Amino acid sequence: MRKITVSGKDEYEILIKSGILGSCGEHIRKVTSASRALIISDTNVFPIYGQTVVASLEQNGFKVASHIFPAGEASKNLATVEGMIKALCENELSRNDIVVALGGGVTGDMAGFASAIYLRGINFVGIPTTLLSQVDSSVGGKTGCDLTFGKNLIGAFHNPKLVLIDPETIKTLPTRYKNDGMGEIVKYALIKSEELYNTLLNCKNIDDILTDVIYTCVDIKRQVVENDFTEKGERMLLNFGHTLAHAIEKYENFCGLAHGEAVGVGMLCITKTSEKCGETEVGTAEKIEKLLNKFSLPTTFSGKTEELVNIMLYDKKRRGDSINLVLCEKVGKSYVKPFPISKLGSFFVEGK
Ligand code: NAD
Ligand code: GLY
Repeated sequence: MRKITVSGKDEYEILIKSGILGSCGEHIRKVTSASRALIISDTNVFPIYGQTVVASLEQNGFKVASHIFPAGEASKNLATVEGMIKALCENELSRNDIVVALGGGVTGDMAGFASAIYLRGINFVGIPTTLLSQVDSSVGGKTGCDLTFGKNLIGAFHNPKLVLIDPETIKTLPTRYKNDGMGEIVKYALIKSEELYNTLLNCKNIDDILTDVIYTCVDIKRQVVENDFTEKGERMLLNFGHTLAHAIEKYENFCGLAHGEAVGVGMLCITKTSEKCGETEVGTAEKIEKLLNKFSLPTTFSGKTEELVNIMLYDKKRRGDSINLVLCEKVGKSYVKPFPISKLGSFFVEGK
């Protein structure tokens, strides 16, 4: 078993092990004296993994209930969060009880948010079941949901008590979502690790090295969130490609490109422009495109520039009339550059 400890005010462990789902109750029992557990999951994940988790929790003395919501980003809204809060009330969870988020990033973000606001905060454990959520969203305590104005506009920083990563769950993940997770993995390589870039580029079969890659990404994110939990500086780097990605997702009403797909497109587009502006080493965009192609990720997007820019006005990295754009200096190195909002349109058109 591999273990990563995320230090800080609410220190927690991330355990990575094939098959850990079957003993999740044992691990969760070590971090809580809760008597009740509410599993929050979606309509795709619960039928596959729900019973394993219920059984293990019951064996470890928890009174278990579950709340299942319709799978997909289109569910990531306040109405679904309200449904979760009602389930917490109906099942009489008290302040020392625990929520178990079983699913991908959509489940984890919303279950974490419901935990953050119910009774002003109760504990939750993350059991991420997509590649994207294992390498990214389950770590760092960002929870929340979308609003009609845009992506992830409401939320709270609320750390989990524990994260259990079972790489076996990737075997049932549809290929599209496995590739989607690769979008965020490519992001880590571009912002922080040329070594990871080369590993991804040279590997023959990603499945052979997936557990190592998950560990590497989680450890990169650990370092970043330990330094800057509330995203005042370095954590913004994790948003490389996200300004355009979030706008595309909202433009398509959260039913088009998936998050990691949109991030891939966003990283490529912004780097094409930053290369032209002399901010990025020449040839970097080509290197990004090569990896996106390798993992069957899209490289183009549709959408009217004016509408996309209007959505970007709600980006969380905006500060008044300026927006903090994340740029890649070269593979493995990134930085934040304040940019005038008024010039965003021409900037993104360049890279399209
Ligand atoms: P998701 O949760 O919608 O999962 C993708 C699809 O896979 C869903 O249909 C789901 O039901 C299905 N699924 C999940 N696990 C499965 C499994 N093991 N077998 C079969 N099917 C399975 O989406 P996601 O890609 O995991 O997460 C995307 C979300 O994460 C976005 O909303 C994004 O904003 C968020 N995110 C958050 C952070 C953060 O720091 N909090 C970071 C990155 C992304
Ligand atoms: N994925 C962005 C963050 O965790 O900050």
